[in-house]
Amino acid sequence: MTRHDDAFVRYLRSKESVDDRALHRPTLADLGDRLEDHAESNPGEPLRVVSVGAGTGAMCRRLLSWGVFDAHDDIKYVMVDRRKGMADQAAKAFAKWSHAAGWSAEPTRDGFRIERHGRRVSLTYVTSDLFDAMSALPKALDLVIAHAVFDLLPLRRAVDSLVSRLVDGGYLYAPITFDGRTAFRPSHEADDEVLAAYHETMRDGDSAGTDAGADLLSVLPQFGANVVSAGGSDWVVHPEHDGHERVFLDRILGFVEESVGGAEAVDDETLERWLATRHQQLERGTLSYIAHNVDVLARLG
Ligand SMILES: C[S@@+](CC[C@H](N)C(=O)[O-])C[C@H]1O[C@@H](n2cnc3c(N)ncnc32)[C@H](O)[C@@H]1O
Repeated sequence: MTRHDDAFVRYLRSKESVDDRALHRPTLADLGDRLEDHAESNPGEPLRVVSVGAGTGAMCRRLLSWGVFDAHDDIKYVMVDRRKGMADQAAKAFAKWSHAAGWSAEPTRDGFRIERHGRRVSLTYVTSDLFDAMSALPKALDLVIAHAVFDLLPLRRAVDSLVSRLVDGGYLYAPITFDGRTAFRPSHEADDEVLAAYHETMRDGDSAGTDAGADLLSVLPQFGANVVSAGGSDWVVHPEHDGHERVFLDRILGFVEESVGGAEAVDDETLERWLATRHQQLERGTLSYIAHNVDVLARLG
């Protein structure tokens, strides 16, 4: 794994507790209720889930830990990420988590099988672009999860691809979808310039960028998926920071530096001044950060 990958994995790890706080609970509760109904109407059938842009699989561990899949005794969960090295990182994270949570774990050719109290979860990791992975799957999924990834994707193409593999009545869950506001405090004179340039870099190419959350609400129905629940899932990080939050904020500043630094919209001196102030504030424990996200749950048909 490169130093860059290592920093990304540490970022994903640090993001877990920020996401835990942020997730829109009514939408998550609705997902749990609907999966319970699904289990009742499909007795003996496994729940078939695919998570795209899965990173190290934090959302899978969270949903299992939080009881969202409790009505299902047999779960087939596939994680797809195109980034090499994520499969190994996911395997490490699942081995540690399953041991601590009392699941027995057995490695399989491309993942793990975990069992606890008669419930079985088959976890498979696929290293691939999600468009290739989805097109290779049958139209047989009960749930597709796209966690913190839609802003990076061409929205219409991604929605089409993900929805096309759902069974009728299947669900698309898109938690932590970025939706256009980034704020740091205390305010700095270069905030508007730096953050406008930061957002502009997210519009690169054909990715959904800063409007991903709002656009999902109108694009999903165009592909037959009706929004059944949605709500804000903002990241709000403020002093005092714990160790995870310090890593998280440091990486967010790193994202601003890497994207704005390569974009030429802000002169080097202004960006350096802004970053130096933000890093000082992080070190002194005075930095606050907000990013606006939304969680969306949609049903096909
Ligand atoms: C911000 S991370 C989120 C990871 C994970 N969902 C989480 O929140 O912990 C976005 C992930 O999407 C993956 N990704 C982006 N575009 C992708 C694509 N076209 N196909 C597969 N994975 C993709 C990246 O490699 C990255 O791991």
